[in-house]
Amino acid sequence: MHRPHSSAFHSIRPRALLALAILASPVFASLPLPMPAGEPPAPPPQVDVDFLERRKTPSTGYYDPNNSGGAMLTLVNNTYPPGLHEPINVIMSAYSDWDVLQPVTTDGGLINWFQSVGFSTECLGQHSGDNQAANLGDGHGYLNQTAVIRWDYGDATVGTCEETIEGGDHIRYWIQNGPSADSGAVFMALSYEMPIAQQHNIVPNGYNLGRDWFVGNATAQSSLIPSLNVTNASSYSGETTFNGYTYSNSVTYVSGLLQNTSIGINHNDSVPIDGKPAIDGLVAVVEVKIVGKPANSGALPQLGFSTSLLTSLAIPLLLSGWLALAP
Ligand SMILES: *[C@@H]1O[C@H](CO)[C@@H](O)[C@H](O)[C@H]1NC(C)=O
Ligand SMILES: *[C@@H]1O[C@H](CO)[C@@H](O)[C@H](O)[C@H]1NC(C)=O
Ligand SMILES: *[C@@H]1O[C@H](CO)[C@@H](O)[C@H](O)[C@H]1NC(C)=O
Ligand SMILES: *[C@@H]1O[C@H](CO)[C@@H](O)[C@H](O)[C@H]1NC(C)=O
Ligand SMILES: *[C@@H]1O[C@H](CO)[C@@H](O)[C@H](O)[C@H]1NC(C)=O
Ligand SMILES: *[C@@H]1O[C@H](CO)[C@@H](O)[C@H](O)[C@H]1NC(C)=O
Ligand SMILES: *[C@@H]1O[C@H](CO)[C@@H](O)[C@H](O)[C@H]1NC(C)=O
Ligand SMILES: *[C@@H]1O[C@H](CO)[C@@H](O)[C@H](O)[C@H]1NC(C)=O
Repeated sequence: MHRPHSSAFHSIRPRALLALAILASPVFASLPLPMPAGEPPAPPPQVDVDFLERRKTPSTGYYDPNNSGGAMLTLVNNTYPPGLHEPINVIMSAYSDWDVLQPVTTDGGLINWFQSVGFSTECLGQHSGDNQAANLGDGHGYLNQTAVIRWDYGDATVGTCEETIEGGDHIRYWIQNGPSADSGAVFMALSYEMPIAQQHNIVPNGYNLGRDWFVGNATAQSSLIPSLNVTNASSYSGETTFNGYTYSNSVTYVSGLLQNTSIGINHNDSVPIDGKPAIDGLVAVVEVKIVGKPANSGALPQLGFSTSLLTSLAIPLLLSGWLALAP
């Protein structure tokens, strides 16, 4: 990478060489050099590139995959007829808190958030069922889902074993983090499946219901979301808690990402009800903020800085302080 040169640096080259000698001393031996040998000091390092990149994300909180060769529909193998799809019908906005966008169980991450909504990772950590692939238009092309997350019937540890057998709401998710659309938003395909004895087919209206029962739980509704009546003006909000983390979840239904259709949708012979299409074309976009943390979660603010960046920030500061003091 070419670094911009500043003529001001040339006059301090001898000092910079001395500084390099210091950098080569044992104290600095384990730290990464902030610049190639013989080059002037690097410009001040910046906030995590990932973090800035994600702040370029459209105000919607995601890049529409359809704008760059992707799709809001998954690829499903062995459908009848071949080539049918399932809808990606929930998105966690990139403007959610950084920690909850990370696919981990710790620090209030995505898995802990799913658990707060009543969902968990697969039975005993074993993936069961087929894979589906999605292309989020981020340059990664089609990828199998990152993981499958299932309704946990009230038990985050083994409850998803029951879902595998009895059926229920389940989620496949992918993260939009490829080089050409690095929002960090989490894209989820939800559907309510039948028991394993019925080959995990989808219940009537099971895409819209899978989405809406998820939203109903994520926003702590006391009554069901009226699936036949939601529109692109619908919004819901509420809080969920797990492991000491409390989340504020705000959901907005968005049209235009998917079509209101049965054409090309998996199980389109059995899913549509009331003469309406298999999917209503709405995507629930949820923005999640962490509003409570366990007392022992540590006081350091989570700003998206990485340790190595803090380190490379510290070295030029030490150096410039020393250069200023040197005769
Ligand atoms: C995706 O899943 C299919 C099985 O459904 C498997 O054949 C394929 O290798 C997987 N692709 C990747 C990249 O893991
Ligand atoms: C679908 O099948 C093809 C061919 O067997 C395979 O390459 C692909 O990975 C499969 N995709 C999924 C999502 O299972
Ligand atoms: C929460 O999810 C469960 C399981 O899918 C569902 O039975 C229930 O109706 C949902 N609650 C709301 C308020 O949507
Ligand atoms: C949906 O809308 C219809 C007609 O507008 C109304 O009769 C029905 O009660 C509504 N359903 C719910 C669950 O709100
Ligand atoms: C909602 O959908 C209607 C068409 O059904 C469209 O005219 C309108 O622009 C949409 N509004 C938003 C905010 O997307
Ligand atoms: C995606 O884009 C294509 C044009 O590239 C358009 O025909 C199609 O309707 C779009 N899909 C949706 C769901 O808007
Ligand atoms: C289901 O999708 C297929 C493939 O696009 C289409 O040929 C068929 O007409 C659809 N069925 C219904 C009931 O909409
Ligand atoms: C989808 O289309 C049906 C008519 O086929 C209509 O009744 C329904 O209101 C539409 N849903 C949305 C969310 O636009």
